[in-house]
Amino acid sequence: MIVCVCKSVSDRKIRAAIAEGVDTFDELQFELGVATCCGKCEESVRDVMAQSGVCQSHCGVEHHTRAAPVAFYERKAA
Ligand code: FES
Repeated sequence: MIVCVCKSVSDRKIRAAIAEGVDTFDELQFELGVATCCGKCEESVRDVMAQSGVCQSHCGVEHHTRAAPVAFYERKAA
């Protein structure tokens, strides 16, 4: 699937770059040119990075992109 239309970059290309060691958004911009034209793809590029296990903070903690929804229940007085 094409992620960056302006530069014709697919999610496969982004994953391949990540597999080759690219681990920051800035590096992806430099290597592939993503989000350097209109910028509308930035969020999608970051999503692909997160799905590929790249942590933007480089904290070493594995993050999950889709957290389970949290439900809050209000307790009613008896
Ligand atoms: S869609 Fe990526 S820069 Fe425009």
